Amino acid sequence: MSASSVARYIVLLGAPGAGKGTQAELLEQALKLPHVASGDLFREHLKNETELGRLARSYIEKGELVPDDVTIAMVRERLSQPDCAKGAILDGFPRTIPQAQALEDMLADLTGGTYELIPIYIEVPQDVLLARLGGRWTCRNCQAVYHELFNPPQVPGVCDECGGELYQRPDDTPETHRRRIEVYMEQTAPLIDYYREQGLLVTVDGRPSVQEVRTALLAVIRGGEHD
Ligand code: AP5
Repeated sequence: MSASSVARYIVLLGAPGAGKGTQAELLEQALKLPHVASGDLFREHLKNETELGRLARSYIEKGELVPDDVTIAMVRERLSQPDCAKGAILDGFPRTIPQAQALEDMLADLTGGTYELIPIYIEVPQDVLLARLGGRWTCRNCQAVYHELFNPPQVPGVCDECGGELYQRPDDTPETHRRRIEVYMEQTAPLIDYYREQGLLVTVDGRPSVQEVRTALLAVIRGGEHD
């Protein structure tokens, strides 16, 4: 199988507010791979008031992680869909070591063992994270992400992409945000070493502008650099 026909799964790692969702949307357009965001999948279930949505709500509102078994089953179902056969941009999954191991198993299964995994850590210091989440606005319809200062929509309150209504996520309160960062440090940050030890990790500075970070991400994805 030639390198270009190998399914590519890009894993965006980074703290809440690092810009994973923002960059995943841009990479989706540039690489023509679907954006698979576990947070968006959960929010879709919340909106549709499914049983899974009701279960997830209690964790999301407190800034805690939804249990691994539920999250893994939901993502597996999404990655089994035909549009993910050539790869995907994973945003928010995996978030624990068991999720990372489950991802390897499911990709081996779904691709017959021929796939490329590209974990990219978008590194942003904590003070910048706090400033970003305070001004975030998200489209209720297509989940596009804006910032009132750093990345504003053309018309306040209206999505540039689809004209949908913008809203502030209920888990962006200062208390929940602090807890999400703590949970990230405890449960998700270990994935950085997990992938570094496998020689797979790439780190990108997430502090510059949205467009500069996009350019850096595309360079490492296309150039195949590692830490
Ligand atoms: P999720 O939706 O994944 O939230 P998160 O990881 O906390 O990440 P965020 O969406 O807050 O941040 P982001 O990095 O995507 O930043 P963004 O691009 O929006 O998860 C929500 C909840 O679901 C979790 O708390 C958990 O309960 C549950 N969950 C999800 N996945 C799970 C899993 N795998 N296991 C268990 N539970 C799970 O950018 C932030 C802001 O900054 C925006 O306003 C943006 O416009 C702005 N911005 C972005 N880049 C820049 C830049 N370069 N310069 C200036 N501003 C920028």
